[in-house]
Amino acid sequence: CPITPPPTMSASSSSLTAAHSAQDYANAIDRSVPSFTAAQEPDEKSYFNTNLPPPELEEYSERTEQFVRHHYHHQRRVVLITSGGTTVPLENQTVRFIDNFSAGTRGATSAEYFLEAGYAVIFLHRQFSLLPYSRHYSHSTNCFLDFLSEAQPTDGYAKKSAVMAKGEYSDTMLSVLRKYNHAKRENLLLLLPFTTINSYLFLLRALAMKMEPMGSKALFYLAAAVSDFFIPRERMSEHKIQSGDFNETQLVDPAASGVGKKLIIDLDPVPKFLKRLVESWAPKGMIVSFKANSLGQLETDEGILLKKCRLALERYSHHLVIGNLLQTRKFEVVLVDSVDPQKQPRRLTLQRDEANGVKFATKQDMEIEEQIVTEVVRRHGARIWDVVATTGSL
Ligand code: PMT
Repeated sequence: CPITPPPTMSASSSSLTAAHSAQDYANAIDRSVPSFTAAQEPDEKSYFNTNLPPPELEEYSERTEQFVRHHYHHQRRVVLITSGGTTVPLENQTVRFIDNFSAGTRGATSAEYFLEAGYAVIFLHRQFSLLPYSRHYSHSTNCFLDFLSEAQPTDGYAKKSAVMAKGEYSDTMLSVLRKYNHAKRENLLLLLPFTTINSYLFLLRALAMKMEPMGSKALFYLAAAVSDFFIPRERMSEHKIQSGDFNETQLVDPAASGVGKKLIIDLDPVPKFLKRLVESWAPKGMIVSFKANSLGQLETDEGILLKKCRLALERYSHHLVIGNLLQTRKFEVVLVDSVDPQKQPRRLTLQRDEANGVKFATKQDMEIEEQIVTEVVRRHGARIWDVVATTGSL
């Protein structure tokens, strides 16, 4: 098994005490290494030369090139939205993998508002996560069949076998269907799925480069939850890791309660390629990233979240960070921009009907992505004007 022992556990250890074991867990993340250093050109070369490109890379690149060319001629702005979580496979022939939390709600919902704002959308998403338009009817507590009923002859259908939307859903469904058909007809939405962190990174780089002709009209809206740690290709097991594969002295903790062996996984940090996106892959585009924290109240933890947002801007030099807490992400976000990161951030909130907890007060308050996208589109427009004013071209 190519999985190496963690640094605190020497390969020659013949026995492990309970004290050792506790220490190992406390040091599971090596904090002596400065975290979050931005990736530089050599890191990029090293990653993309040592890990294999996904099979879909060429096809997706070609489709993106055509899509960009088409919308360039129609003078549309193009946004690349990343959405959903990336996985870290533990084996090449993957049976087990580590996942990152994200349903894809932020990305899929935002995509619809960008389309409404006149953008063409490249939707780079985790396979089987939420998609624009179909999200209204998938992954919900209702099965999609619950939205349908069998048409009766009294509904004006000659055939008994017809299916129609149930009355209470039909207005909304018709409106969603019309928007979806419009996006398809006008070739406004390019859906490109990924699964693994490796595939995500190869695709992000390739697609960003294909957006180059758009200049400042390109927008990157990085809502995906990207893995922080991965197993490099040279250390990846080919087939399913069997429990019998472990070297007992390295991977079994005799102090652990119960029987059975432990699988200890040694992960490398994923290079922070945001800086490469800003500096090299899409230097003219506007880049918006999201920062998530998993703590409690925005009021009390906002300080930590803001600090992280400002740190991200400092490290990657992009244009806007949108901070959200996992628990409140559907009601509240903060926008920290690169022009003046220290100033009080713009906060977007949905009004909540306190009596009903999470129910919203008004129709237009229903999705916070509408407010986020309006604000991002406004800032993108201002930036395009700035670029044109200072350089004389897009
Ligand atoms: O999909 P939902 O369930 O609605 O959830 C939405 C969300 C909470 C996942 C989303 O709003 C969000 O916050 N996404 C970012 C999560 C996060 O903390 O990402 P990060 O810290 O790993 O990365 C920060 C930013 O850099 C992200 O925009 C990420 O897409 C981008 N990144 C990170 C690493 C990397 N190698 N490449 C990247 O592009």
